[in-house]
Amino acid sequence: MGRRTICSFSTFFLVLFAASSVFGGDPYRFYTWNITYGDIWPMGVKQQGILINGQFPGPQIEAVTNDNVIINVFNSLPEPFLISWNGIQQRRSSWQDGVYGTNCPIPPRRNFTYVMQFKDQIGSFFYFPSLAFHKAAGAFGGIRILSRPLIPVPFPTPASDFTLLIGDWYKANHSTLKYILDSGRDLPFPDGVLINGRGWDGNIFTVNQGRTYRFRVSNVGLTTSLNIRIQGHTMKLVEVEGSHTVKNIYSSFDLHLGQSCSFLVTMNQPAMDYYIVVSTRFTSKVLTTTAILRYSNSYGRNAGPPPGGPTIQIDWSLNQARSIRWNLTASGPRPNPQGSYHYGLVKTTRTIRLANSAPIINGKQRYAVNSVSFIPPDTPLKLADFYKIPGVFSLGSILDYPTYGGGYLQTSVMAANFRDYVEIIFENSENTMQSWHIDGYSFWIVGMDGGQWSPASRRGYNLRDAVARCTVQVYPKSWSAIYMPLDNVGMWNIRSENWARQYLGQQFYLRAYSPANSWRDENPIPRNALLCGRASGRRTRPL
Ligand SMILES: *[C@@H]1O[C@H](CO)[C@@H](O)[C@H](O)[C@H]1NC(C)=O
Ligand SMILES: *[C@@H]1O[C@H](CO)[C@@H](O)[C@H](O)[C@H]1NC(C)=O
Ligand SMILES: *[C@@H]1O[C@H](CO)[C@@H](O)[C@H](O)[C@H]1NC(C)=O
Ligand SMILES: *[C@@H]1O[C@H](CO)[C@@H](O)[C@H](O)[C@H]1NC(C)=O
Repeated sequence: MGRRTICSFSTFFLVLFAASSVFGGDPYRFYTWNITYGDIWPMGVKQQGILINGQFPGPQIEAVTNDNVIINVFNSLPEPFLISWNGIQQRRSSWQDGVYGTNCPIPPRRNFTYVMQFKDQIGSFFYFPSLAFHKAAGAFGGIRILSRPLIPVPFPTPASDFTLLIGDWYKANHSTLKYILDSGRDLPFPDGVLINGRGWDGNIFTVNQGRTYRFRVSNVGLTTSLNIRIQGHTMKLVEVEGSHTVKNIYSSFDLHLGQSCSFLVTMNQPAMDYYIVVSTRFTSKVLTTTAILRYSNSYGRNAGPPPGGPTIQIDWSLNQARSIRWNLTASGPRPNPQGSYHYGLVKTTRTIRLANSAPIINGKQRYAVNSVSFIPPDTPLKLADFYKIPGVFSLGSILDYPTYGGGYLQTSVMAANFRDYVEIIFENSENTMQSWHIDGYSFWIVGMDGGQWSPASRRGYNLRDAVARCTVQVYPKSWSAIYMPLDNVGMWNIRSENWARQYLGQQFYLRAYSPANSWRDENPIPRNALLCGRASGRRTRPL
């Protein structure tokens, strides 16, 4: 009897030890963030910004694949606040996703600690404030996840690594913009474009002649696609949202709302100052801004004007998007070549067609997907699901295909099975640009084209070397198709990255469900989970 006890105790410790060396050996990175209002002057006029530890934009998160990233966020705003992580997959843990469908807002004067692992990820991403219209005031920042030391990266280590957060900007504060949307009107045209929170020539990137640098660029803006280019230099694409790409050379590059990518730029020009130019795409009026690329031995500014870029050309952009290919022989986060996934040979188990629309509902401008304009419930969906609180949402409250009927308001949640392999077609019959983001997953963009999608469109799919990412654009009167493995149990937000559309209902949640109900498939509710709405007063652990 005693022996047995000892034996099972040592087995217990062995198991613990094995578990900790497999899962617990990854380094921890701790951050403490204080969220406050503060004055910023991004376009020369004083505005109320949302700062993180006094900074606008917020501090950058630098991590390595599989790092545990622990961020204790203190909300010093007089209103509720949440941060979400664009492109971080939160494996088995939609508990940490930081959108209103998964987390209770952090109340004023309270804090919440996000406990995340950047599991099996590399690449360039960003974080942003997810509630209200806070994103118009700041509190966004870059996230870079480096490969682990022994994993080969398909290009030489750059001399330095720069982050460029680019985005359109309004002089009006976020409360005013939210008020405009709440009262049923559309946002006005933005006032300008910012690079890292600054306007015209507001940033200087100093480089050494002859060296090669990595530029990680994210479109953190609210409403417009952007084009980026560097006077006198070409840009070699090496990564989009965690996939190493074939190294195509571009003279300018389109980045749609919510997208991130990395370029290598070799400083092979005479030692001068050059313009980095960012301008709006598909807008009748073109907004432009610049930063300075300064050679350390620069003898002055290049006399030429900032180089012009494409403005309204859609085919140019579509062709460029199609030219982005996965490098099948380069490593991703793991040592095996990415191409061994053979995403194109796996049979899809379900087709979901999602059509965006802009209905007027109750006299107000709304945005919808498959006719449903999302309204947030009184309790986060993930918590309602966990505590089995009835009446918060119903599965199947959004269909798998467009109905083209009038829009209506609903808390839309789509049911899905863990390990399904889905084909999703985003169908845009409107005359505006769309950009879609899916939390919790990475997906292959197998096709995009003008006109209406039909099953025959599948013949044109790229089933070999399409790139895997988490945000896909859809051109006006066009479609984009993706393949996505539902390899992550949880409640996941699918949303427009056009922030007015997202705010006014062009989003829903996908509930990827495993009947196993096992910690192997999904992490338990965090001990520190905030509870609100009809989940108030519940427990995260049994007594
Ligand atoms: C956050 O910053 C505000 C303003 O500087 C300060 O009053 C407050 O004590 C800070 N809170 C924390 C938790 O650091
Ligand atoms: C708030 O911060 C404290 C440490 O200052 C931490 O112990 C606590 O878990 C945090 N609260 C939540 C809900 O994460
Ligand atoms: C793909 O990655 C491999 C491995 O690092 C590299 O040798 C090759 O040049 C890359 N191919 C292209 C087309 O970029
Ligand atoms: C936001 O802008 C409106 C309109 O200019 C102004 O009335 C309001 O005080 C501003 N709010 C803040 C917090 O600056």
